[in-house]
Amino acid sequence: MSGMNEIILEAKGIYKSFSGVPVLQDVHFDVRKGEVHALMGENGAGKSTLIKIITGVYSKDAGTIEWEGKPVEINNYQDCQKLGVACIYQELSVIPPLTVAQNVFLGREPRTFGLIDYAKMNRMTQELIDRYQFPLHPATLVENLGMGQRQLIEILKGLSQNSKLLIMDEPTASLSGKEAETLFHIIETLRSEGVSVIYISHRLEEVYRLSDRLTILRDGQNAAVLNREEIVPKKVIATMIGKIVDESAGSKKMLHSDDTAPVRLEVKDLTDPADRYRHISFQVHRGEILGLGGLIGAGRTEVVRAIYGVDKAKSGEVILDGQKMNPSPKTSIAAGIGFVPEDRRSQGFIPLLSTTRNIALTNYDIIRKKGAAVSYADELAMSKKAIKDIDIRPADPDKEVGVMSGGNQQKVVLGKWLMRDLKLLIVDEPTAGIDVGAKNEIYEILENLAKQGVAIILVSSDLQELIRVSHRILVMRKGDVVKEFKNEIVTQSRVLSAGQGILDEEEAQA
Ligand SMILES: Nc1ncnc2c1ncn2[C@@H]1O[C@H](COP(=O)(O)OP(=O)(O)OP(=O)(O)O)[C@@H](O)[C@H]1O
Ligand SMILES: [Mg+2]
Repeated sequence: MSGMNEIILEAKGIYKSFSGVPVLQDVHFDVRKGEVHALMGENGAGKSTLIKIITGVYSKDAGTIEWEGKPVEINNYQDCQKLGVACIYQELSVIPPLTVAQNVFLGREPRTFGLIDYAKMNRMTQELIDRYQFPLHPATLVENLGMGQRQLIEILKGLSQNSKLLIMDEPTASLSGKEAETLFHIIETLRSEGVSVIYISHRLEEVYRLSDRLTILRDGQNAAVLNREEIVPKKVIATMIGKIVDESAGSKKMLHSDDTAPVRLEVKDLTDPADRYRHISFQVHRGEILGLGGLIGAGRTEVVRAIYGVDKAKSGEVILDGQKMNPSPKTSIAAGIGFVPEDRRSQGFIPLLSTTRNIALTNYDIIRKKGAAVSYADELAMSKKAIKDIDIRPADPDKEVGVMSGGNQQKVVLGKWLMRDLKLLIVDEPTAGIDVGAKNEIYEILENLAKQGVAIILVSSDLQELIRVSHRILVMRKGDVVKEFKNEIVTQSRVLSAGQGILDEEEAQA
């Protein structure tokens, strides 16, 4: 039979080890023409490694790859492009000092008389932006954009290549509902045009919605290949992580917040020099988890960065336990504020250092308190505790963080803050890229911290997470706080509507 069942790509008997540790063992993976094939598995299961072998980033130790029925050697990205394969990697590869257009056409710049034709490049980029309706401008420097927009650029780059197979490794990790929805429409259109898509995600609802088939990897081996009708939530989770997790929590909740608890953080009239947010005022009480919702680019990340002091606000006040702060990362750390940034790769950890070192670096003040000299034993004890508390894998304190899987890198960043005695913890997209099992562990840790009196600000584009974890929710839109959900029933659609500037059902009736 031709058409739907034609296999475009087949990887057979793939083996890969890193320094003697097997990461993939006898893995089989095939993709049909015009299908969306999802790839799932716990953090560290080997998904990205398999993709990197298929796209020639890593060499394989054994196995073959066939393209349209013929064995091929793919040794680099050029080989891939020649076959018609494009890949959006989990680690975004956009270059911050360049513009959006320069990134999209990097290495493929349109030229006139041998010179790069910037006007044409901007025009071509604008056409793509219009076609896919992404909130981007061709001439913006990428360094001025948040993670969500950077991810959209990466997607645009992949889409601009007119590929037969498009591989997406966690394309929605930093996207909010609306942008993710746009992407799903694009994927559905591509499928109807006969393009194949490999889709990696930890968000189960996306996989249920999009995929024709699903391959599950577990500890570097094939665990299952499921057809569309076999993709049942409980079964998928059990196959993936070997335990049942309730995925339905977080679509609707009655919010409870205690405003009789003392105010821990007060933000007054905070305004950005670049006008990305203005006149932001709110309080967070002891033991309260305040969720910040909104679309990407709404200004949430900018606000929390200003509270912590990574960026400076133009005006306004940040008051912690009644003390006016002069926010800078140094004073914030000393005052008991923790911050898990959205962009973990460039701000959250040092790739060449071990888990122990990365955790110790933020925590020398506490490690030092215990004795005159910093002892490696104290550092190690802290690192082992973090590894155990949030299940960092591999559970090796000496492992270089740079070679760990995306989700495990995130756990290291989170882990180093959870080891401190905090007054306020700010987490920006804390579980982007983290598997369902580990997500639950992180939610529990946040809830326990809150019970101990820590105030928490959670920025999350995952509505399910936002609703499930928050005690109260503020929604931002275009730099303003437009809505507060407090002691009432909140649903995903209410938060989404507020973020898009659409009147609430309840308000519309009033
Ligand atoms: N360059 C490397 N050097 C050494 N080990 C590596 C390297 N790349 C990956 N690994 C290891 O291979 C294993 C699989 O990692 P991989 O990145 O493929 O996982 P993943 O399934 O993509 O996980 P995640 O969902 O967290 O992104 C991990 O144990 C990781 O530490
Ligand atoms: Mg990965």
